[in-house]
Amino acid sequence: MRFERLGSHIYKIKSTQPIMEKRMPVWASAICLNAHTFQFHSIKEAQRFLSPKAKYFDYLPTYYIRRGHLIFSGLRMIPAKKWHFQTHTLVGPLAFFTLLSAGEGIIFPDVHPVLPLTYSPIKEFKEPPSRAYLKLSEVFLRKKTWPQSFHKVLELGSSPGGWTWLLSQLGCSIECIDKGTMSSEILNNKNVTWHKTSAFSWVKKHSVVGFDWLFSDMACSPEKLLDLIEWTVQQNPQIRIVATIKLNRHLGNWNQLIEQFLRVPNAEIIHLYHNKHELTFLRLKT
Ligand SMILES: C[S@@+](CC[C@H](N)C(=O)[O-])C[C@H]1O[C@@H](n2cnc3c(N)ncnc32)[C@H](O)[C@@H]1O
Repeated sequence: MRFERLGSHIYKIKSTQPIMEKRMPVWASAICLNAHTFQFHSIKEAQRFLSPKAKYFDYLPTYYIRRGHLIFSGLRMIPAKKWHFQTHTLVGPLAFFTLLSAGEGIIFPDVHPVLPLTYSPIKEFKEPPSRAYLKLSEVFLRKKTWPQSFHKVLELGSSPGGWTWLLSQLGCSIECIDKGTMSSEILNNKNVTWHKTSAFSWVKKHSVVGFDWLFSDMACSPEKLLDLIEWTVQQNPQIRIVATIKLNRHLGNWNQLIEQFLRVPNAEIIHLYHNKHELTFLRLKT
């Protein structure tokens, strides 16, 4: 896959295969298909052309930025709304546009994902003991899937309990493991059992068989996480997985590492709005 830079954060992908048949580049905030250019003589004319093409618009500043902003001011913007993590419908069709010259623009009408990963879409709560729950909420919201109340969930690296709090809202039964300390309020929940030990030795000793979901936000090297995920899928091919890949020491050779993670059957990797120097590994289909 080759990239041609169109603007500060916009790249045209030159690919011999249709991009969505391959996979979304892991760091991309959106892939826009079927882009085409349009000509206009005035700001009003550009607005009249764009307006019927989508419900909402976002402007990607590249060239003729002031003119672009003036056009954008007459279009509908994505509402600054925050969604509960179990919302099924996000925004209506969104299109991007940018200008190439004073009289020529490009419209990107077919945006994936529907709500690009540069938007923070999550309704926040006061109760969780850490803000890490925002990452997991974003996964549930964007992928429209989460554990059911009858599911058994294993959570690694759970302390102080942000993800555990979110999972406990779903009513599923949670075994969580962390060497650190969990918030005592979370532990009052009868569906939560905490093991204060190393996750690696716990899973090898107790097995992952019987769990429907594995969650990991453990601070560990990507290599150790990859080993654990490969072993888990081997032991329990039906398990669904959400795991944070912490890349702090690995920005040099991340590409090769990502390829290894993506060899796990049904794996996907995205960079969430709420991820920092991390990526999120997903295996939501089995
Ligand atoms: C980013 S924090 C997790 C935050 C948590 N997800 C939340 O929502 O509050 C990472 C955690 O990984 C735990 N951790 C690191 N290595 C571990 C190991 N080998 N076994 C268990 N926990 C580990 C740390 O103790 C730390 O609490």
